Amino acid sequence: MTSDSTSNVSNSMWGGRFADRPDAIMEEINASIGFDKRLASQDIRGSQAHAAMLAAVGIISESDHKAISQGLEEIGGEIERGEFVFRRDLEDIHMNIESRLREKIGEPAGRLHTARSRNDQVALDFRLWVKEQCAEAEAALTRLIDALLVQAGAGVGVIMPGFTHLQVAQPVTWGHHMMAYVEMFRRDRARFADARERMDECPLGAAALAGTGFPIDREMTAKALGFARPTANSIDSVSARDFALEFLSASTICSTHISRLSEEIVIWSSAQFNFITLSDKFTTGSSIMPQKKNPDAAELTRAKVGRIMGSLVTLLTVMKGLPLAYSKDMQEDKEPVFDAADALALALAAMTGMVADMQPNVARLREAAAQGFSTATDLADWLVRELGMPFRDAHHVTGSLVKMAEDKGCDLDGLALSDMQTVEPRITDAVFGVLGVENSVRSRISYGGASPERVREQVGKPG
Ligand code: ARG
Repeated sequence: MTSDSTSNVSNSMWGGRFADRPDAIMEEINASIGFDKRLASQDIRGSQAHAAMLAAVGIISESDHKAISQGLEEIGGEIERGEFVFRRDLEDIHMNIESRLREKIGEPAGRLHTARSRNDQVALDFRLWVKEQCAEAEAALTRLIDALLVQAGAGVGVIMPGFTHLQVAQPVTWGHHMMAYVEMFRRDRARFADARERMDECPLGAAALAGTGFPIDREMTAKALGFARPTANSIDSVSARDFALEFLSASTICSTHISRLSEEIVIWSSAQFNFITLSDKFTTGSSIMPQKKNPDAAELTRAKVGRIMGSLVTLLTVMKGLPLAYSKDMQEDKEPVFDAADALALALAAMTGMVADMQPNVARLREAAAQGFSTATDLADWLVRELGMPFRDAHHVTGSLVKMAEDKGCDLDGLALSDMQTVEPRITDAVFGVLGVENSVRSRISYGGASPERVREQVGKPG
């Protein structure tokens, strides 16, 4: 076996039983270095921890450990500085780094792979990467939540229409609407945190699939790499990718929330709604229509769910029906996860910028809130409360009054008391007290309701 991997007929890592080089197409379909070089820093950290453990338990000598550790550190620097030459014939990041280590330090490099396989190595690298991405997503969500809280705090008294079926339903406030998204994004953040905790187990030491006969210390490597504990089953360690699936599911759910807010931003910023003004920083102009200010960032954040959800479906499909333990199919796990993580990070950052910059058009929101008979429920509730009517009857009376106002072309509070009394003679002019949108909002004092005092409590709540 030759130690020079560029000139040989097969491969320096396993060339012993091979006489021929792989076909060019084989090399192309087999190589993952084009994308798994993103795992370089995780791979080096994993190897450092492994080498330190091998030395600590006496499997390799302290001087070999020193050489390995020094060499890996230098390789990390080469990669960081963009000097490292990634070779496709060396297939993946693991063999690229090991091969470079051999060039640098010679024989001791060959001892690094003792009691280890690429199967546990890649499981480790990928888990570390995904775990870090969960933490990134949590931090990005915190920034978005903070931006929403600022909007909510300033808008507890800003009245706007609440919708169902995109029809005006009841008056709410800007603050209350923003807090709805705070709740959604807090749940998203909790999903990432929860997934991160579940994946907090170190697969290193599972080796190919069965563990190893060497007296390794898995607690030591787990601890050195920041994991809570080592994984408990060596077969599962190299087979499991549900940690990546959980990251993608959490990302998909989060991106559906992002897309709903995006959609509202698009609608709200239209001339027809005119509920908000977006900043120049997150909009674009048109090359032909000078008046246009397009919400491109919102449209793009609305669309990102497509590729994120696509990544989830891709990996679910790859993993479905795979027998234990490792199969090369699993090399297809990385690109969708990388793509989804990038898309999510960008969408969260863009959404945070838009939310921080957007301005609610207070007068327009107030005006829209009063349209569409939005206080009809308040009127029905008044009939129940003041006249002791069963709610179903009150609903019917209110419906007749809405019809009357519609015919007259006025709002409910534009009806004359005498007209109302033709429908229900016991109505008094006290009814006008509940027909205004301010009173309506102020009355929604149930826990979680739209009243400014309830919303202020929610905005002030830690978490
Ligand atoms: N490049 C491979 C991957 O991403 C590394 C593991 C290869 N293991 C093997 N037994 N061929 O999955």
